[in-house]
Amino acid sequence: MKTHLLLIKLLTLLVLSTSQHFDFFYLVQQWPGSQCDSKFSCCYPTKGKPKPDFGIHGLWPNWINGSYPSNCDSNSPFNSSEIIDLVSQMESHWPTLSCPSNDGQKFWGYEWNKHGTCSKSVLDQHDFFSTTLKLKTQINLLGALQDAGIHPNGSEYTMTSIRDAIKGARGYTPWIECNRDVSGNSQLYQIYLCVDSSGSRFIECPVTLAKKCSPSIKFPLF
Ligand SMILES: *[C@@H]1O[C@H](CO)[C@@H](O)[C@H](O)[C@H]1NC(C)=O
Ligand SMILES: *[C@@H]1O[C@H](CO)[C@@H](O)[C@H](O)[C@H]1NC(C)=O
Ligand SMILES: *[C@@H]1O[C@H](CO)[C@@H](O)[C@H](O)[C@H]1NC(C)=O
Repeated sequence: MKTHLLLIKLLTLLVLSTSQHFDFFYLVQQWPGSQCDSKFSCCYPTKGKPKPDFGIHGLWPNWINGSYPSNCDSNSPFNSSEIIDLVSQMESHWPTLSCPSNDGQKFWGYEWNKHGTCSKSVLDQHDFFSTTLKLKTQINLLGALQDAGIHPNGSEYTMTSIRDAIKGARGYTPWIECNRDVSGNSQLYQIYLCVDSSGSRFIECPVTLAKKCSPSIKFPLF
C-alpha cells in the first residue's frame, strides 16, 4: 500500500515537472520567393524588400513524440522593449512577409507567445531572439547551397542534392518542406534543422518528419 502511494506521488511529480519541458528545437527557415509566388502571396515589410536569403520562421520547442507545446505562458507576453537592440538584425534575418505590410513586431510577437514561452526556462525573451539569430547566421543555408551550385534561379534541383549539400557542408541533415507555386510546381519552401534543448548547438533530428516534396523541386528567384 505504501509503495503504491509513493509510486502515485512520484508519477504525479514526473508529470508536473515534464509538462512544460521539451526535448529539442526546430530552427525553421523559409525561402521568401516560395511564399511570394504561391497563392497566398506576400507583402514586403515596411522597410522594403528583404534581401534574397532564407528568413527565420521560428525556433520551435518540440517533443520527441512529434508533438509540441504551445502558448505556455500568457503572463509573459511579447514585449518589444526587450529586443530593441536586436531589431535591425531581426529586420534583415527575420523579416515578415504577411499582409498588410508591417514592421515585423506582430510576427515576432506571435512566435514568442506561441513557441518562445514554452522554452522560457532555458531562453528568456532576449535570449530567445538573439540565440535564433546566432544559429541562423552560423548555419548560413544559402551559402551551403550556393557552394554546391544550387542557386535560387527558378531551376529545379533534386531533393537529394539539396539535402546532401547542407549535410555535407554543415554536418546536419535538414528536413525540407515544399509548397506549390501558382502553376502547381513543387518548390523549396522551408528548411528545418534541429537544435539541442539548451539552444546551443545543432544536432541530428531525433524524429523524422515526412514533408511532401516531389523528387525534383524548384528553387525560385526572389
Ligand atoms: C508528447 O510528449 C509530451 C511530453 O512528454 C506530452 O505532454 C504530450 O502529451 C505527448 N503528446 C502525444 C501526442 O503523445
Ligand atoms: C517591457 O520590458 C521593459 C524592458 O525590460 C520593462 O521595463 C517593462 O516593464 C516591460 N513591460 C511590460 C508590460 O512588462
Ligand atoms: C541556375 O543555375 C544553375 C547552376 O549555375 C544553372 O545550371 C542553371 O542553368 C540556372 N538556371 C537558370 C534558369 O538560369
